[in-house]
Amino acid sequence: MNQPPNQAPGLNVPSFVKHPKLVAWVQSIARLTEPAEVVWCDGSAEEYDRLCSQLVAAGTMQRLNPAKRPDSFLARSDPDDVARVEDRTFICSERQEDAGPTNNWMAPARMRAILQTGQADGTPALFQGCMRGRTMYVVPFSMGPLGSHIAQLGVELTDSAYVAVSMRTMTRMGKAALEVLGEDGHFVPCVHSVGAPLEAGQADVRWPCNPTKYIVHYPETQEIWSYGSGYGGNALLGKKCLALRIASHMGRSGGWLAEHMLILGVTSPAGRKYHVAAAFPSACGKTNFSMLVPPRSHAGWSVTTVGEDIAWIKPGRGGRLHAINPEAGYFGVAPGTNEHTNPNCMAMLARDVIFTNVALTDDGDVWWEGMTDTPPAHLIDWQGRDWTPQIAKETGVKAAHPNSRFTVSSIHNPVLDAEWDNPEGVPIDAFMFGGRRSTTVPLVTEARDWTEGVYMAATMGSETTAAIAGKVGVVRRDPFAMIAFAGYNMADYFQHWLDIGAQLAAAGVPQPKIYCVNWFRKGADGKFIWPGFSDNMRVLEWIVGRLEGRAGAAENAFGFSPRYEDLRWDGLDFSREQFQSVIGIDRPAWAQELVLHQELFTKLSLGLPTELPATKARIEQRLAA
Ligand code: OXD
Ligand code: MN
Repeated sequence: MNQPPNQAPGLNVPSFVKHPKLVAWVQSIARLTEPAEVVWCDGSAEEYDRLCSQLVAAGTMQRLNPAKRPDSFLARSDPDDVARVEDRTFICSERQEDAGPTNNWMAPARMRAILQTGQADGTPALFQGCMRGRTMYVVPFSMGPLGSHIAQLGVELTDSAYVAVSMRTMTRMGKAALEVLGEDGHFVPCVHSVGAPLEAGQADVRWPCNPTKYIVHYPETQEIWSYGSGYGGNALLGKKCLALRIASHMGRSGGWLAEHMLILGVTSPAGRKYHVAAAFPSACGKTNFSMLVPPRSHAGWSVTTVGEDIAWIKPGRGGRLHAINPEAGYFGVAPGTNEHTNPNCMAMLARDVIFTNVALTDDGDVWWEGMTDTPPAHLIDWQGRDWTPQIAKETGVKAAHPNSRFTVSSIHNPVLDAEWDNPEGVPIDAFMFGGRRSTTVPLVTEARDWTEGVYMAATMGSETTAAIAGKVGVVRRDPFAMIAFAGYNMADYFQHWLDIGAQLAAAGVPQPKIYCVNWFRKGADGKFIWPGFSDNMRVLEWIVGRLEGRAGAAENAFGFSPRYEDLRWDGLDFSREQFQSVIGIDRPAWAQELVLHQELFTKLSLGLPTELPATKARIEQRLAA
């Protein structure tokens, strides 16, 4: 006789689980992956402490000096598992054209054979028995405020306790999410394995993973399967996999947007508050910008954080676009973070943090490149080896991995926006898009209209960073900072943005203004010209001035940019010439740039909205004039 799911042997289903389909699914994955035991996460502090202690005992994490960094840990990953693996990330839609030319694609049936069912030549499925000797954690979570009409529920099954504790920080995880799920609520099933089964008596390693990696999305059935990595976006499946790749697909049919954007509140000295959503590629300063401390010259202004990586944006009350941050914590890049670049972040990292791949000081604290001007005389580097400034000089070895991270709950952010957990979200007044470009792209440009804004975002380029496995510093087109995250054809994604703008216009609802920014132009000496960080407030102040119809601008081929006199310079020594070198438009460089836009459009020609080449033609005419 079949057992009712709640009594299935070995599943240990707790009484707070009321969802038979969830139990049946957990049972089916347990049958496939054969874990030694199943643990259902309730999200409690006791559970977090217990799992952290287990991770310490296993050598995956070590406890930091409680006098210096209370309740905090350092994890060191396998040196080959340090970043998102875009070349191993797949969108398995039924039709290849629905994944589009910017995503890796494989037919779902073929992928399922590799991962789940086994191949015709007898090669067993990767997930077959992959959790042997390990615990499978059942991790229920909500992306977004519990019960929000914009939020989504997911359940991740993982054989990594590090992932389970990280998911508690990054999402609303445990019993509370199950309560919202109820007896028959919808959830996105996410299966994760490090791909390192343990045979009887086999000793475990510090960071189990597998050289073979697959990060797989089935957008039509809304499923995520991840194999072989325990790191960041490869493994914390609520983040890039659900909140961007699957959610962007959901948003396309549901009339909303899932974006790689921070969300900030900016309040002027007059007490007027605006909300800005800003897209920058990975490791280009979203966290810093979302927690910006205005310079002394801008006393009376404040910036507050709603989110620092992802925004879900839907028409809300009165039809205006409203945004929530689907995450509850930050998985931020550590190197470069310091008291100057992000003092609020440094305060946020004082306690309750899991650091991964940063360096360890001799007194049991953490350090990373850029934290202080002078590095400590001795450290243990991210691979557990002795490190001194002399070794670094001789070998170039970094103490912290360039993509080392902190995982911390948003509630520790000293400038957390009061509305960050509002289920209705916050109304969006402006969008910003910014790549990392040492040349060509001006400091800030306001698009003349929604279509020009979509053009700017669609053609954005950026120099690659260490957040992605592969070469660093190469300019690649990163439309909307979503090149790695759009779960469907990028050309259709552009159309979706145009459609959202048209819907707002048809409903008589004001469209947020769209800005393109670039903090990263370099001078002949190779140094950044714009001071950035808190001085980005000057650009934000100009944007607020534009929203209020006060700030001046000059029109150019792309839209409107401030003249020197349109920004406020008190407290900063920045000459007219320096300003010219960050705002100027170099025609030959733009002629080159437009060739690259054309290359992108050629690649994306299937379904490319005609408005985009038409906008390009208008820009070319203006540049030629
Ligand atoms: C991230 C990324 O981790 O974009 O946020 O890589
Ligand atoms: Mn990101």
